[in-house]
Amino acid sequence: MSSVREQLEKLREEIRDHQYRYYVEAQPVVSDYEFDQLMRALEALEQKHPDLVTPDSPTARVGGQVTGGFPSHTFQEPMLSLDNAYSFDELEDWGRRVAERAGTGEIDFVAELKIDGLSVTLIYEAGRLEMGITRGDGRTGEVVTSNVRTIRSVPLRLKRPESVEVRGEIFLRLEAFRRLNDERDAEGLARFANPRNAAAGSLRQVDPASVARRPLDFFSYALLPHRPSQSEDLAALTGLGFKVNPNVLRTGSLNEVIEFCRAWEDRRDTLDYEIDGVVVKVDSAFLQERLGSTAKAPRWAVAVKFRARQATTRLVDIRIQVGRTGALTPVAELEPVQVSGITIRNATLHNEDEIARLGVAIGDRVLIERGGDVIPKVLKVVETGPDRRPFQMPTHCPECGSEVYRAEDEVKSRCISQTCPAKVKESFLHWASRKAMDIDGLGERLVDQLVEHGLVRDISDLFELADKRDALVALDRVGEKSADNLLKEIGATRMLPFSRVVYGLGIRHVGERTAQILADYFHSMDALLKAELAELEQVAEIGPVVAETIYRFVRESHNRRLIDRLRDFGLRMVMDGPAPDRPEQVFAGMKIVLTGTLLGITRDDAKELIEQRGGRVTSSVSKKTNFVLAGADPGSKLEKARKLEVRVVDESEFREML
Ligand code: IVH
Repeated sequence: MSSVREQLEKLREEIRDHQYRYYVEAQPVVSDYEFDQLMRALEALEQKHPDLVTPDSPTARVGGQVTGGFPSHTFQEPMLSLDNAYSFDELEDWGRRVAERAGTGEIDFVAELKIDGLSVTLIYEAGRLEMGITRGDGRTGEVVTSNVRTIRSVPLRLKRPESVEVRGEIFLRLEAFRRLNDERDAEGLARFANPRNAAAGSLRQVDPASVARRPLDFFSYALLPHRPSQSEDLAALTGLGFKVNPNVLRTGSLNEVIEFCRAWEDRRDTLDYEIDGVVVKVDSAFLQERLGSTAKAPRWAVAVKFRARQATTRLVDIRIQVGRTGALTPVAELEPVQVSGITIRNATLHNEDEIARLGVAIGDRVLIERGGDVIPKVLKVVETGPDRRPFQMPTHCPECGSEVYRAEDEVKSRCISQTCPAKVKESFLHWASRKAMDIDGLGERLVDQLVEHGLVRDISDLFELADKRDALVALDRVGEKSADNLLKEIGATRMLPFSRVVYGLGIRHVGERTAQILADYFHSMDALLKAELAELEQVAEIGPVVAETIYRFVRESHNRRLIDRLRDFGLRMVMDGPAPDRPEQVFAGMKIVLTGTLLGITRDDAKELIEQRGGRVTSSVSKKTNFVLAGADPGSKLEKARKLEVRVVDESEFREML
C-alpha cells in the first residue's frame, strides 16, 4: 500500500498532465467528467490530510494556465470558477447550505445554460471596448483585445457610454466547428477535439485576421458593477447591446430548477452550440454578498453538470473507409448502444497511430463519446475482450485491391490507384458539396449508381449527362423531374467563381481558404498551371508541403486532361475583375523578422508589404533569417541577430528595398 503522500503526488502528476494536454496542447485525452473526478478525489484526499497540501498542488489554482505569447492582465475582481453538482441531490444540498447561510428559505434563483466555451472579461470605458482578456488562471489572464474585436457579437461600442466590465463565454457554433475541422483535415492538420478547444485555439492565434475567419460568438452573463440582482444584470446587458442566452429561468422553487435542468439535458442536441450543464445562481445581489465566495468559487452559484454523452459498448469490428484523397480511415463497428437518446453504431478511430495509442483490439469493450463532431469517437478501452483480435492496417485497398502506401511523415495510409472507385465516388461528392459546386441532387446514392453504371468516370463527365438523360431517368429513384433539376444544377455551376472550381478539384491540402488564396494570387488557371514550385512556395500561407502537392497535382496528366475538359464545358478558369498589379517579388522566398516599433508604418502593413513581395514574416531569428527589420527600441531579437550575424535593416533602408 503506497503512502498517502505518494498517492497525493501521483494524483497531482496525473492532473497536471491532463491540464497541460488540455490548456497548452488543446488536445485532451480524457473527458471533462473524468478530469473533474480526479480533481474531486484530490480535493477529498487533501481535505483529510491538510498537512500534506502543497502550494503547487493543482487545487491551489483556480484553473487554466497562462501560456504566454500575449500580455497579461491582473483582474481587479478575480474570475472565479464554479463548484459543480453532479446530481440533483448535490444541488439540493447546495440549496440547503445557501438557505442556512442566507438566513432565509425564500430565495429566488436564476438558472442559465452553461455554455461550453471559454470565459472572457471585456472592459469598456465610456462605452468603448478597451480590453478583452481571457480567464487565464482566474487572477491573471491574457489580453487578446484585437482577437476579441473580430467577434461580431461583441459590441465595440455600447448603446450607452458606460464604463463597465462584462463577463461571458466565447464559443464556436457546431456548424463552424465542423467546417473548421474539415478544413484542418483537408490541410493535413490535427482536428480539434471539441468546439471549446477550437474556440480557445482560435482566440489565441497571433493574427487577428485568421481569428476573424473563424466565426466565434459570445454570450454575456455578468455585469460589473452589479445591478441589484442577476436577472437585472441580464436585462441591463441586453440593453447595452449584448447577446444574452434566451433560455433563462427565474424561480423561487428549486424543484422547478431541477425540471429546467432535466429538460435541457434532454434537449441539448437541439442547440447549435454545446452546453455542459446549467448554472444556478442566487438572484439577489444582496444575498450574494451575504453568502460570499471561497478563494475559488462563489457560494451563491453552482454548476449542475450534465452526464457526459458517453457509453461503453463492444467493438465488433474495424472497417476501412476510403476517402476522396485515397486516405484509409479505420471505423469502429460497435454493438449498437444508446447515448443520450441516439443509437450509436459507428465511431471513428482516425488512423493506425490512434489505434495503437488507445491499445484497442477487436472484441474489447470501449468507452465512446458523442462530442461536437458528427461521428462519435472511441476514448479508451475499458475491458479487453477474451478473444481479442488486434487490428492490422490492410496492405491493399479494400475497395480496389491496389497497393496501400503510408508516407513517412503522415499518419494516414493511402490507396495509390487513380481509378479506385471509392476515390472516384468521393471526388464526385466533394465536387457536389456545398462549398464547391453545391449540386443539391448529387448525393451518395446517385453517385454510386452513376459510377457503377459507367455513366461517369470523372467530374467532367457530369456535363455530358445532358446527352444521356434517358439513362439517367432509368436509374433507381430518379424521376423525370429530378433528372431535369440535376441537369439544371450542373449547368448552373458554370456561373460559379474560379476559386470554387479550384476548391472543387479536391487537391489534397487545398481547403476552401487555400483555394481562395490560390485564386487571388494566380488569378487564372493558366497561371496556376504554369507556376513553378518556388513561386507556389512563396505564396503567403502556403507551406512547402502544400506547394508541392499542388505542383504535382497540376502536372499530372489525368488532372490536366480533367481541367482542360472542365474548361471546354465552360467552367470559369479566371477570376472576375482585373488582374492585380503584383509588385516585383523583391523578397521572394525570404524569411524576415520584425522587431521594435516602426514609425512610419504599422507592423501589419509592413507584414503585408513583405508578403505581397514574396517574403514571409517569421517570429524568431535564426540562421535562416534573411534580415531583421528593426524599429525603435528593438528587443532581444536584435541582439540575437547580431550574435548570429544576420543582416539588420532599418526603416529607411526597408523603404528603399520596397
Ligand atoms: S457564471 C463567478 N454563468 O462556466 C461565477 N458561468 O465552470 C462565474 N460558464 O468559468 C461564472 N456559462 O466560463 C456563469 N451562464 C453562465 C456560464 C458560465 C458558462 C462557464 C464560465 C465559468 C465556468 C465555470
